[in-house]
Amino acid sequence: MKKKLAIFASGNGSNFEALAQACADGIIDAEVALCVTDKPGAYVTERARKFNVPVVEFRPKDFASKRDFETMLANQLKECGIDLICLAGYMRIIGDVLLEEFGGRIVNIHPSLLPAFRGVDAIGQAMDYGVKIYGVTIHYVDATLDGGRIIAQAAVPYEGNDRDELESMIHRQEHLLYPATVSRILSSL
Ligand code: GRF
Repeated sequence: MKKKLAIFASGNGSNFEALAQACADGIIDAEVALCVTDKPGAYVTERARKFNVPVVEFRPKDFASKRDFETMLANQLKECGIDLICLAGYMRIIGDVLLEEFGGRIVNIHPSLLPAFRGVDAIGQAMDYGVKIYGVTIHYVDATLDGGRIIAQAAVPYEGNDRDELESMIHRQEHLLYPATVSRILSSL
């Protein structure tokens, strides 16, 4: 039986699309079984519908605590038989409930060469620093912010000043690295 991915995203979802397309093309031998978003109506939900992927939308403020909404998510993920959770622009720290249920089976993509530039707006942070080699990291998720063990990295050399140009270079790299890395991880699960 095909392995099942859940992809968590809060926004645009271009990495969701890269992973879903790679599954459709057989580059990843798995199916995207669930799209999870904490921002109902985010553009990622449209992309999910295009790929016929069921969407779980929730508003964290409708729950008394992170523990409560993560319990709801963990139940849905288990019911669906999810093998691997891929965070793709999910703007929340994963809490104890999901880490306990899916520890070692949650990965994230971050637009910097970690451990440099953790947290929000990593690209802006790196530009402010005058970085000349930007990059992308895929790592396991633990309780720290962008701090879990690194699985794969790719460098993006750039000496210009055009944020849009840099962002699209980084995204292009993400859309190659994430599917290739997920495929590799799945083969060892
Ligand atoms: C990506 O740059 C990813 O590295 C970061 O959030 C961004 C999400 O972009 N974690 P998208 O929503 O996949 O287009």
